[in-house]
Amino acid sequence: MDHFSYRDGRYYAEDVSLETIAQAVGTPFYCYSTATLTRHYKVFSAHFTDIGAKVCYAVKANSNLAILNTLAKLGCGADVVSEGEIRLAIAAGIKPSDIVFSGVGKTATEMAYALEQDIFQFNVESAPEVELLNQVAVSKGKKANIAIRVNPDVDPKTHAKISTGMKETKFGVAIAHALPLYKLAAKLAGINVQGVSVHIGSQLTQLEPFQQAFARVRIFVDELRKEGFTISTLDLGGGLGIPYGEDEPPLPDSYAEIAKQETKGIGCQLVFEPGRVLVGNAGILVSRVIYVKKSETRNFVIVDAAMNDLIRPSLYGAYHHIVPVVAPAASVKPEAVDIVGPVCETGDIFAEQRMLQLPEAGDLLAFRSAGAYGASMSSTYNARPLVAEVMVNGSKYEVVRKRQTYDELLSRDYIPSW
Ligand code: LLP
Repeated sequence: MDHFSYRDGRYYAEDVSLETIAQAVGTPFYCYSTATLTRHYKVFSAHFTDIGAKVCYAVKANSNLAILNTLAKLGCGADVVSEGEIRLAIAAGIKPSDIVFSGVGKTATEMAYALEQDIFQFNVESAPEVELLNQVAVSKGKKANIAIRVNPDVDPKTHAKISTGMKETKFGVAIAHALPLYKLAAKLAGINVQGVSVHIGSQLTQLEPFQQAFARVRIFVDELRKEGFTISTLDLGGGLGIPYGEDEPPLPDSYAEIAKQETKGIGCQLVFEPGRVLVGNAGILVSRVIYVKKSETRNFVIVDAAMNDLIRPSLYGAYHHIVPVVAPAASVKPEAVDIVGPVCETGDIFAEQRMLQLPEAGDLLAFRSAGAYGASMSSTYNARPLVAEVMVNGSKYEVVRKRQTYDELLSRDYIPSW
């Protein structure tokens, strides 16, 4: 459930009309709903309060400080993958003791920064990484708390580009090879082995892959304990999908049931790293139609947002529901339209042959479910400034990221002295 809806034929974010925001900040812009984000966090985390699990929001899904701060105030932690994300999480008010640091390529500088902040846990993904982390920790007179991310070789049945738990991917350590790595880590003075972590992919729409992965990890935790390891944390990653179109991914309650069932009596602090499920449907992208161009075979609706603002359709063929901000009369018949951006690539397409009431130049369109991996994956390709981001709370709204100016865009580069 989200708080974007029509009122008398006009699309609203909570109690604010999107036409009003468009007039004030221009287009395109991302718009986030505080009520939706809060609701999603509460629904998700409520299933785990009884077992004292940590919910660490995957910052990469949307790293706007306003999103992070809203979650911080609700008691949420952070799953980060770079020093930049650690800095953002802390700046937003997330406690370092609620931060887990994931990712296959942490650098020594990033490790040093994370150690200085005394984060909760490093999710380590290889032998060279554990060795480097040990060196950095020793040099700082610190001990790094680690979990080793295992790769359970489970097909998450999602898009190939966002599958992470199969043996062909770069992520984690095969369960069969993980024990020697635990033994190595246990000997290192700068390392405190405390847990196991797993994350098999994103936008999962079925429960079975989670269930298989959690079951495999559970067996492995038992094996580690038999070998004498104290395993006190178990990080089950993120990945729960959201409904973008017709699909109906499992709800957090059945996901939680599987997670609890597969870890029953395990005696570990559980950690979850949800990204998309918290923020995906808490954000939309609003764009204005520049032209309607009719070719022999197509109705092209050319909008002022492009693949640089929301890359998911181009990159993954992802579906985003597109709705008019002012609903046209019901008598206007839907026809097949292609919604495209101005970028000079055929792949700059948001929807192909979508049945929609043909909009007119000047109309506003909203791309739904754009809160996750929308703004955070945007770029300035084609020298297009990063768009504004707005957050709504009831009848109030504020700009939470200013639209980048052309001066800012141009000031990044330098002409060399020669
Ligand atoms: N934990 C780790 C270690 C991850 O790599 C990810 C996402 C998450 C948690 C959060 O997953 P979520 O709950 O959001 O599914 N750009 C792609 C998604 C990439 C996901 C990368 N890792 C997209 O737009 O679909």
